[in-house]
Amino acid sequence: MKFVSEQKRSHFCGELTKEHVGQKVTLMGWVDTRRDHGGLVFVDLRDKYGIVQITLNPQEAQTELAKEFRNEFVVAIHGEVTARPEGMINKNIPTGEVEVVASQCEILSRAKTPPFQVDDKKVGENLRLKYRYLDIRSERLQHNLQVRHEVCRVARNYLSDNKFTEVETPILYKSTPEGARDYLVPSRVNLGHFYALPQSPQTLKQLLMIGGMDRYFQVARCFRDEDLRADRQPEFSQIDIEMSFVDMDDVMAINEGLARLIWKEVKGVDIGDVPHMTYMEAMNTYGKDAPDLRNPLKLVDLTEVASGKGFKVFDDVAGRGDVIKGVAAPGAGEYSRGQMDKLTTHAKNYGAKGLVWIKADANGALTSPISKFFSDEDFQQIFNAAGGEKGGAVFIVADDFHSTCASLAALRDRLGEELGLTDKSKDKFCWVVDFPLLDYDPEEKRYVACHHPFTMAKDEYVEALEKGEEKTFREIKARAYDLVCNGYEIGGGSIRIHRTDIQRSMFKALGMSDEETKHRFGFFLEALEYGVPPHGGFAWGLDRLVMLVLGVDAIRDVIAFPKTAKATDLMAEAPSVVEREQLQEVGVQLNGLAKKALEGNSPD
Ligand code: AMO
Ligand code: AMP
Repeated sequence: MKFVSEQKRSHFCGELTKEHVGQKVTLMGWVDTRRDHGGLVFVDLRDKYGIVQITLNPQEAQTELAKEFRNEFVVAIHGEVTARPEGMINKNIPTGEVEVVASQCEILSRAKTPPFQVDDKKVGENLRLKYRYLDIRSERLQHNLQVRHEVCRVARNYLSDNKFTEVETPILYKSTPEGARDYLVPSRVNLGHFYALPQSPQTLKQLLMIGGMDRYFQVARCFRDEDLRADRQPEFSQIDIEMSFVDMDDVMAINEGLARLIWKEVKGVDIGDVPHMTYMEAMNTYGKDAPDLRNPLKLVDLTEVASGKGFKVFDDVAGRGDVIKGVAAPGAGEYSRGQMDKLTTHAKNYGAKGLVWIKADANGALTSPISKFFSDEDFQQIFNAAGGEKGGAVFIVADDFHSTCASLAALRDRLGEELGLTDKSKDKFCWVVDFPLLDYDPEEKRYVACHHPFTMAKDEYVEALEKGEEKTFREIKARAYDLVCNGYEIGGGSIRIHRTDIQRSMFKALGMSDEETKHRFGFFLEALEYGVPPHGGFAWGLDRLVMLVLGVDAIRDVIAFPKTAKATDLMAEAPSVVEREQLQEVGVQLNGLAKKALEGNSPD
């Protein structure tokens, strides 16, 4: 009898329990481990659903092949489920009370000795990425990918129940600005022309609203050529959403409902109330627009209390109209000089020019490298104003608003972690609203959209946008919102501009000439002339969402085939060089720089 063609799999490895005792079963899977005990061979057989122990007797003709079994061979066995004797029960696995005594077996596929043992946690990531298909066999990745599927399933059902229609949009498309570089694809049929892979389906989903789809969603693949971090990939997925005839509260309510349902169904927890805070509140209190609310530390403005007392650094900063801010850390009063130096380096890595620390011993006596510049009374006042307490420390940065915020935010994260103040037992959400519409980019020497160029200004600022006076641009607030969880932005969206004139003013504010506007967005501006419902939407970073549901730190752990920090795939060796003919066909020639790079090294 031949397995697979004549004898089908009857059960999964992981599902056998005492209830199956006495039954004849046919199992197929991978040899997880194999132990030779004299006459008998014990195999832990593994499939997607778990592991079960098989006993084989190679002395018998029907099972003598078991002698050849090695790790990661794919085998089929037929046998009887038996109860394990009392002393042999393994409480650590669900099938631990039974084993299968094989009467027949077959090797379906042999395996080379694997470069690492599946589930060995000590193996380096690059090796695991090179043999990703082996790593996917691990319990960890099986679980993560399953949870990712569950998240998508809950989202699809929820959105479908709320009248959203899933629509696919093209990957070969035109540049869609989300602030990163585009991935370009040369066209063979239209030589000299390029597609851009979408950074998000932003314009497309708006066109679907113009097309009367009313409510759209898609699990959409997005491509962004940008510097990678632990929570970023060059291609990633969004749960992308757009709705017609809605305001901010409608879009936020639908998405908060989705967050609530995902956490309830997949994680079994209630996320509680989701507070709202403005962008300025978030910056002032936490130093960044994606605050981790599990950390109780808060920043305090000290510009008033710390300046004018004779310390030049502070006085200069206050004199320039910049800020002095501090954070008090209970328990940090015992930090050594070395620890303070490390924190200073940390703050400097995030843009601070220096870090002032003041620490208090158990009796409240203060020490600090800058105490000599202040009277005791003034110094105590600063410490108190920052919220310092006995046995604690206060850290102060003085600089322009953004550098001060960025460095203190990084310090706050680290102190929360180091002092064990960040409560990891719960996920904490918040909405951040009232973002600025535009931000000045000193490198590009022009204003850029904080969210994207299709975001509507709040009503009271539309006039300012239309007037186009740069000096007012910084004041303009957007009808945009981000959903933040544990310090990650897991999604963001906005109400869109649905009038051509305002959209033109926006492109103008971004420094785009009429020609550029026409070339890049002519089709879109034209569509805005044909009857547009007021609309808005949201996009979840699906990968980040799954990271948070699982509580893992690396985005690569929730993606089946992720890329490295250098945007390469170590398994398939992508990107790779292509034949000269292929380049010729698409009208592309390598320049000197590319040739030199090719001579020097491969991408990783
Ligand atoms: P935005 O650019 O804010 O908005 O993206 C939405 C969400 O996508 C996730 N994300 C990423 N995840 C992994 N790797 C990346 N490189 C990456 N970049 C972004 C983040 C982010 O919150 N079209 C708009 C949405 C809208 O306005 O409806 C957009 O793409 O979690
Ligand atoms: P200096 O006068 O540069 O020697 O700095 C005196 C102290 O102030 C040192 O402890 C510096 O780390 C700190 N310091 C300098 N610049 C800043 C700044 N912009 N913000 C906070 N502390 C600073």
